[in-house]
Amino acid sequence: MVVDVSRRRTADAGAEPPLTSLRERAAPAAIARIEGPAVIEVEDLTAYYGGFRALDDVSLQVPERQITALIGPSGCGKSTLLRCLNRMNDLVKTFRIEGRVTYRGIDLYGKGVDPVEVRRRIGMVFQKPNPFPKSIYENVAFGVKVNGIKGNVGEIVERSLRAAALWEDVHDKLDQSALALSGGQQQRLCIARALAVEPDVILMDEPCSSLDPIATLKIEDLMRELAKEYTIVIVTHNMQQAARVADYTAFLMMRPDRAGELVEFHDTDTLFTMPRDKRTEDYITGRFG
Ligand SMILES: Nc1ncnc2c1ncn2[C@@H]1O[C@H](COP(=O)(O)OP(=O)(O)O)[C@@H](O)[C@H]1O
Ligand SMILES: [Mg+2]
Repeated sequence: MVVDVSRRRTADAGAEPPLTSLRERAAPAAIARIEGPAVIEVEDLTAYYGGFRALDDVSLQVPERQITALIGPSGCGKSTLLRCLNRMNDLVKTFRIEGRVTYRGIDLYGKGVDPVEVRRRIGMVFQKPNPFPKSIYENVAFGVKVNGIKGNVGEIVERSLRAAALWEDVHDKLDQSALALSGGQQQRLCIARALAVEPDVILMDEPCSSLDPIATLKIEDLMRELAKEYTIVIVTHNMQQAARVADYTAFLMMRPDRAGELVEFHDTDTLFTMPRDKRTEDYITGRFG
């Protein structure tokens, strides 16, 4: 992925900046381009459930090894957008999209793309921890076997549990039921299960919404740790959480026709301190939503 570095190059060369970049500077775009490579690119994405348009013309880039947060009021299409990134919405019969989602240059919705492989590389963690009613070990080993991941399964289970900051809690009770773990431990187990199949991107849909504040902070610390190696996209209705963990933040909102619109996308500091759009400002200052 090539990023727009034209302005920087111009500056380096000491030449007059072209007119377009002057205009950009005067009125900075509400949808920023990212620094560094993009793993996923969403282009002009419109999403429908039957006749209902849930998202309208969304474009954004997901930066590699960064955390991108999707925020906005309930019903504005955050989960829909997230699920478009790994074809999770294929399971909804009435769902269809226009526009494009590319993953490392591959059209995710193109012919010959296997949605199962898409979901292995772009894994998902849900709002409510959903471990299988099996042992801790089996929960993590499950996807390894199903996806034919090579290597020693026991080692992969240990590595994944360590990466999910759960090994210390469970190493002496791997054969016990996952359902006996606390909510926060169950969510970290689900993260371990996602990591075991060697993903590239991890999508998280409000992963802390059922957790207490201490378990929430643990997951947030874990996310920061994981972002050294993985690309993460998180939906959160908690603005403080986005401000704490995310490198980039996208603000979505519902229009009067109820279609979700991407209002603003910036690095998190800019979005929270210098929003370009009045609606972003109103939302982050708590005027609605
Ligand atoms: N499976 C579905 N079938 C029909 N409509 C849906 C479905 N899932 C979500 N929607 C609708 O799409 C809109 C966006 O929903 P969603 O993406 O879940 O929003 P958010 O995650 O921001 O709360 C809502 O109006 C919701 O009712
Ligand atoms: Mg949602």
